[in-house]
Amino acid sequence: MGKVTVIGAGNVGATCANALALRKVASEVVLIDIKEGLSEGKMLDIYQTSALMDFDTRVIGVTNDYAATAGSDVVVITSGVPRKPGMTREELIGVNAGIVKAVMGEAMKHSPKAIFLIVSNPMDTMTYLALKSSGLPSSQVFGMGGQLDSSRFRCYLAKALGASMSDIDGMVIGGHGDTTMIPLIDKAAWRGVPVSKFASAEVLGKVAADTMVGGATLTGLLGTSAWYAPGAAAASVVEAIMFDQKKVIPSCVALSGEYGQKDICIGVPTVIGRGGAERIVEIELTADESAKFAASADAVRKTNAVLSEIGAL
Ligand code: APR
Repeated sequence: MGKVTVIGAGNVGATCANALALRKVASEVVLIDIKEGLSEGKMLDIYQTSALMDFDTRVIGVTNDYAATAGSDVVVITSGVPRKPGMTREELIGVNAGIVKAVMGEAMKHSPKAIFLIVSNPMDTMTYLALKSSGLPSSQVFGMGGQLDSSRFRCYLAKALGASMSDIDGMVIGGHGDTTMIPLIDKAAWRGVPVSKFASAEVLGKVAADTMVGGATLTGLLGTSAWYAPGAAAASVVEAIMFDQKKVIPSCVALSGEYGQKDICIGVPTVIGRGGAERIVEIELTADESAKFAASADAVRKTNAVLSEIGAL
């Protein structure tokens, strides 16, 4: 039924691997990290839940052994380092760019046909780097951010409306950052009815603001960045690929003229199936949404420029 590799056995990577096993998305899930024993330990722990949680997925943890990842259908990249005190943004981008490029190169050698899903931050820039440095087609390399941000958006909307989360439809597009993401309030709906019918502009404005600082709120509470929702969001995108679901998921994909942008990877609604990012869906944006999208693209481009400044591209 297929094989998925998750690179980076940290909080997000291990949570993603666990969700993949629980939801029986693949017959084999490999978790790989540079830290000796970390992947092995996490996968052994997950394996010991298999009788309790009723899954038969082969869960394998390895240290730096890319041969074990061979023939993967999907490779999820979550490896990286968090920003340390005193580290500049450029330094962080430099370190994570080195890691993403290196692991992508190794994984590609063993799974040249895999779909690569980038989660490492700054995700829009890491996706751009992975795409450019790999030379793979854009359908095969894309980033996960919009699925997480949209899930947070739907949670805040459901709470504000007193609705069931599954009845709420909402998308977040643009960059995957506190100031670059764009929750599409005007297009959000409760069972097809615009949310503006049920809540004031003030309430909906707060929903959008809470969504945008969704990650930072959790970092404030936890002292580190979140993992349940990021891991689950990545796993749900993998599921859409493995089961060829053709789901429309806001994903960080390369644009070549769509939404008035090119030479950039940024979040837009995308049909996700066995071919990866199969098709970009162009929805009509309001003037306000278009202006925000252009500003978001400018900000992402500025971060991408660091890649050439530091010689990563
Ligand atoms: N190869 C494999 N694994 C690596 C490498 C490498 N070259 N370099 C670092 N790692 C591993 C680390 O050893 C660590 O286990 O990546 C893992 C990162 O895990 P965490 O620090 O726990 O980070 P996490 O919270 O999981 O977030 C991972 O996803 O959402 C993003 O911003 C987040 O960029 C971050 C990434």
